[in-house]
Amino acid sequence: MNLLELVTELEVDLPAANAVCSLRLVAVGKYLGLRAGQRVIDFGCGRGEMLCLWARHFGVTGVGVEVHQPSLADAAARAERWAVADKLTWACQDAGGYALGEMSFEVAACMSASMGFGGFGPTIRHLKRAVGARGSIVIAEPFYAVQDVPRELRAYEGDCPTEIELFDIARGEGLEVGYYSRATRDEWDRYIFSSRGIEMREFLAMPVGPAKEDRRRNLHRWQDMYLRYRQPSQGMAFMTLHPA
Ligand SMILES: C[S@@+](CC[C@H](N)C(=O)[O-])C[C@H]1O[C@@H](n2cnc3c(N)ncnc32)[C@H](O)[C@@H]1O
Repeated sequence: MNLLELVTELEVDLPAANAVCSLRLVAVGKYLGLRAGQRVIDFGCGRGEMLCLWARHFGVTGVGVEVHQPSLADAAARAERWAVADKLTWACQDAGGYALGEMSFEVAACMSASMGFGGFGPTIRHLKRAVGARGSIVIAEPFYAVQDVPRELRAYEGDCPTEIELFDIARGEGLEVGYYSRATRDEWDRYIFSSRGIEMREFLAMPVGPAKEDRRRNLHRWQDMYLRYRQPSQGMAFMTLHPA
């Protein structure tokens, strides 16, 4: 793979849907010792970045569950581009309603999508069912990094555990934290500005008028919420959990 291909894969293939960068997703696959034929399920998979990377670099097979059809269409198109479409299937539905039946997976993931299950605790309980007694859970979850959470942030983000509460909840479920890291400032910046990149490009091309001003206000609200409140007061935990 040449440098331009690498940058395209890691940075610009699709807008980022998470503060955890592609390199770190691959690093966690390595940490887990993923190998060909292992099965992964990713709830709230968005544009399928993690599944596509893991299928491409480790040969895993997987299922992505996602409620937003256009994101899944992007995921399927990326899987085609990266020649891993035969390894991945996509289910367009509510994550909480996905019937696991007799299926079991080596890895179950939920990256910044615990809203689909009603929070961190219910999410890891669901992921535990998907992996049984021996599998691993991969999760990215926001946390409040300050004691006095600004009321503007709480109104925008709702209730969020603190970092130590994430650990307490996981341990209370009989899980041990293996890999752990927080999204860096660079990763947050990249996510926030990349995720609205398409909107920004559309905005720049719009003719002057009330519709453009509406769009400007929305974009500024998103940027200001990040710069004033989310960046200083919120973190993003990225961890693997293991039944023990
Ligand atoms: C912040 S994005 C993260 C996407 C992806 N996990 C990633 O890391 O790139 C959250 C995703 O969760 C999805 N989502 C939210 N509620 C859901 C639900 N009830 N069932 C399935 N997906 C859901 C959203 O549509 C969105 O794609």
